[in-house]
Amino acid sequence: MTSRIIPVKPFDYVVFGATGDLTYKKLIPALYHRFADGQFDEQSKIIGIARSNWNDEQFRSFVRKSINEFIDKSLIDKDIVNRFISLFFYIANDINSDKGWAELGEQLRDEENIIRAFYLAVPPSIFAPICDNIAKWNYWHSDARVVVEKPLGHDLQSSKEINDAIERTFCEDQIYRIDHYLGKETVQNLLALRFANILFEPIWNSAHIDHVQISVCETIGAGTRGYYDGTGALRDMVQNHILQLLCLVAMEPPASDRANSLRDEKLKVLHSLAPISGENVEKLTVRGQYGGVSAEGVSVKSYQEELEKSKKGSHTETFVALKLALKNWRWSGVPFYLRTGKRMAKRMSEIVIQFREIPHSIFSHAKGAPIPNMLVIRLQPDEGVKLFMMIKDPGPGGMRLKQVHLNLSFADAFNERTPNAYERLLLDVIRGNQTLFMRRDELEAAWTWIDPIMEEWQQTDRPPQKYNAGTWGPTNSIALIERDGRTWHEESDF
Ligand code: NDP
Ligand code: BG6
Repeated sequence: MTSRIIPVKPFDYVVFGATGDLTYKKLIPALYHRFADGQFDEQSKIIGIARSNWNDEQFRSFVRKSINEFIDKSLIDKDIVNRFISLFFYIANDINSDKGWAELGEQLRDEENIIRAFYLAVPPSIFAPICDNIAKWNYWHSDARVVVEKPLGHDLQSSKEINDAIERTFCEDQIYRIDHYLGKETVQNLLALRFANILFEPIWNSAHIDHVQISVCETIGAGTRGYYDGTGALRDMVQNHILQLLCLVAMEPPASDRANSLRDEKLKVLHSLAPISGENVEKLTVRGQYGGVSAEGVSVKSYQEELEKSKKGSHTETFVALKLALKNWRWSGVPFYLRTGKRMAKRMSEIVIQFREIPHSIFSHAKGAPIPNMLVIRLQPDEGVKLFMMIKDPGPGGMRLKQVHLNLSFADAFNERTPNAYERLLLDVIRGNQTLFMRRDELEAAWTWIDPIMEEWQQTDRPPQKYNAGTWGPTNSIALIERDGRTWHEESDF
């Protein structure tokens, strides 16, 4: 998948939050891979800014450490590493102090063919002063770009405030709002599957599809991450990643793959989400929080045990399941079941398209009833696509039906390293391609749908249902789908 490398123009990437976790774990490794593959060279510069009192050498040691920790040994080449590290420069500065801003001016190059990008890998509370300073110090120009990370707010109002602050300096076509799920190879592949094949589109509708499931299950816990408590699974995963997946599954074919063509269609999906509010929240949503004992009786810390003392008793959900509907012609009557959680039985993200039963079976029941077709798109791990269908069980003895699957395993089909999401997204910023980034109206439409659910939960203030670590979530989430006569797709079926 890395075989076709088109080099990008040289750039000055200014990374605010250069000493932080995101830079260390995601940005540096992603940039290393792109450099090692020859997608940019020594004409580019990465300028890190943070408060820690480091110099260039200390920052470069941090870069080296990140490479050693996150890059596969077989891909570390001493010469490439040294050349890569020489692109990094560091400015120690609190963003509110003028000293470092002046120093940044000495580092930035004012050449027309050098792309200038600002990556805000810092808490959103300092997005506004950073953008204001970029304008004040005249580091903005019409071709500069700014990259912002989630969470962009905790509700519609705060999201508007953050975007207003960024837009005091940058206009919409300069703003790259990251949702790293859109950068995942398998997520982009959804577009290819739907729109580069004639097979699925004619049956991608309520006449042929019974329901859709989207599951994003993680085995890691959440409690030690300071920001998670008070955020919870609905804001952390559903508002952004899962609704974006839903958009790609449910949208109409866009006219082209241009950013706004795609975003216009995604926005229509978000606008057609049936609101969940008031008493519907109780019926259509399930919140859970993990306890400490796993299904096999192994103990891990419960969410409550992971929390610091002042937060004990928190009602933050570490699991959420929802049943939602889209009010449009294509999806009328087709439920979408979503679930996501921490400390679940398996790390597994997938989209399940469950097709309807055939209208009439010519096979008698004694010979096995046809099982409806199902398309399973596995996003991670074991990336691939499986189409479950019926065949005749081979051999004599009459017509017996059997379910089998056509299997497209990406690992088997492409014997190459799958690039991580940030590799694609970081360089899309330099290429000026906003297709895989969220537009402001998408973000706000998502918050508009999420807010009433959050408000109802806060108003009733009921504790989330407990589930054991290492399971598939609270029993109510099973009931949510089973009372409709359906079941969550079992991981072992893949
Ligand atoms: P960290 O707390 O690890 O890093 C924050 C960075 O911001 C540090 O480099 C810190 O540097 C710097 N910083 C904080 N305040 C100032 C200031 N006043 N002036 C200059 N620098 C400052 O956070 P993360 O790296 O985890 O997250 C960064 C952003 O990315 C957040 O918005 C987060 O929500 C988002 N994000 C992170 C993900 C991850 O995997 N970590 C995933 C998705 C989103 P110093 O302490 O040296 O000043
Ligand atoms: C982040 C969430 O956006 O996505 C985390 O804040 C979550 O809570 C992570 O663990 C999941 O990303 P991935 O790529 O590991 O599926």
